[in-house]
Amino acid sequence: MNEHDSEKIAGLLEQKGFTQSKIDDSDLVIINTCSIRKKAEDKFYSQVGRFASLKKRNPYLKIGVVGCVAQQEGSNILKRYGHVDFVLGTMQLNRLLKHDPFYIKDAHIEYSNNIEEINFVKRKSSVKALVNIMFGCNNFCSYCVVPYTRGPEKSRGMKNILEEITDLAEKGYKEVMLLGQNVNSYKSGDNDFVDLLKEINNINGIERIRFMTSHPKDLSDRLINSFGELNKLCEHIHLPLQSGSSRILKLMNRCYNYQDYLNLISRLRSKVPDIAITTDIITGFPYETEEDHKDTLKALQEIEFDGIFSFKYSKRPGTKASSFDNQVEEDVKERRLSEINNLQDTITDKKNEYIKGRKVEVLIDDISDKKDFDFIGRTRTNKIVYLKSNNKLKIGDIVSVIIKNPKRHNLEGEI
Ligand code: 5AD
Ligand code: SF4
Repeated sequence: MNEHDSEKIAGLLEQKGFTQSKIDDSDLVIINTCSIRKKAEDKFYSQVGRFASLKKRNPYLKIGVVGCVAQQEGSNILKRYGHVDFVLGTMQLNRLLKHDPFYIKDAHIEYSNNIEEINFVKRKSSVKALVNIMFGCNNFCSYCVVPYTRGPEKSRGMKNILEEITDLAEKGYKEVMLLGQNVNSYKSGDNDFVDLLKEINNINGIERIRFMTSHPKDLSDRLINSFGELNKLCEHIHLPLQSGSSRILKLMNRCYNYQDYLNLISRLRSKVPDIAITTDIITGFPYETEEDHKDTLKALQEIEFDGIFSFKYSKRPGTKASSFDNQVEEDVKERRLSEINNLQDTITDKKNEYIKGRKVEVLIDDISDKKDFDFIGRTRTNKIVYLKSNNKLKIGDIVSVIIKNPKRHNLEGEI
């Protein structure tokens, strides 16, 4: 979501006549921030001070702060850092287009009931596109800051989304990643998320559809059935579990228990046996005992995810869990995280070994940064593949590749 916001900021500024330059040569610097965990927020605070010296070298320089820290802190940022000229909240990016960015002042963090339709996007990739379908979140998981920084849930109109994707297809894009905090509650008139997927599946030129993220409490049978039925919908789902302990899931306000989650996995796998499933895990949530932690390890063993993103619980201001008494010690979190990661590494290795010798479909999306390989791409199951092709191919091609050498973080193959 945040990465796509940066693409929009770049697009809006380009529209206003700006060009990208090195930070030392720039007249305008915009810092896009994240506050999902304290570590992300700290990155902003450790960098923002350093930008003051840029102003000494270039008196015309303007500095803006946007994103979730901007939304959270508003004018506090201006008070604390005199060299910052303006602050824009998560629903205020259009101001970069409506006004001359050199003259924007103050903090603007008002929530708007309307969706900001931003039609100028400078995309990083020429084959894969990020596309917002929803903004905000109403779920209030007890650890999470997103409902506060991104506001209440709002769906983008289906017509606008389809127009954007048709335009992308005409420009040669092959893959779309639909973005929303909980795509399953997408609604546009009488249409739901599956209706949207069906429409996108009909757009000529688009070959692959992905989405992120789906909340287990709302994963419908209709969506599960779309896998394998909609030919462009890739066989991968990111389904955040967060914890293998039903007691902790309840404290997290996730609205499902471990058994519910297992049922979803078995329904997904009975529909598409080789579907790739990835997840998010938080370790060291308040009140998490050794027993709860073991439940999470057991879940990893039982489910065998293709990959996980694992995080130490981080206390976020204003969230329910930040007021819980029994916070877990830092060294315990650290140890539990490494136990989780070590276990998952062996599972990832086993999963990748299974692909050895198999033929997979790869969408080439970049030039290789690894010696002896020409290109990088992704399988439909979202695994990274380095491939040798004797340079007969180009970015955007979809090819059949035999996996010769599976590694932990990528697969090596030959055309
Ligand atoms: N601490 C640690 N991890 C968090 N996440 C969200 N909030 C927190 C927090 N306070 C993780 C969740 C979520 C992912 C995007 O970030 O696992 O799924
Ligand atoms: Fe945060 Fe939960 Fe909403 Fe995801 S569903 S953004 S974890 S509150």
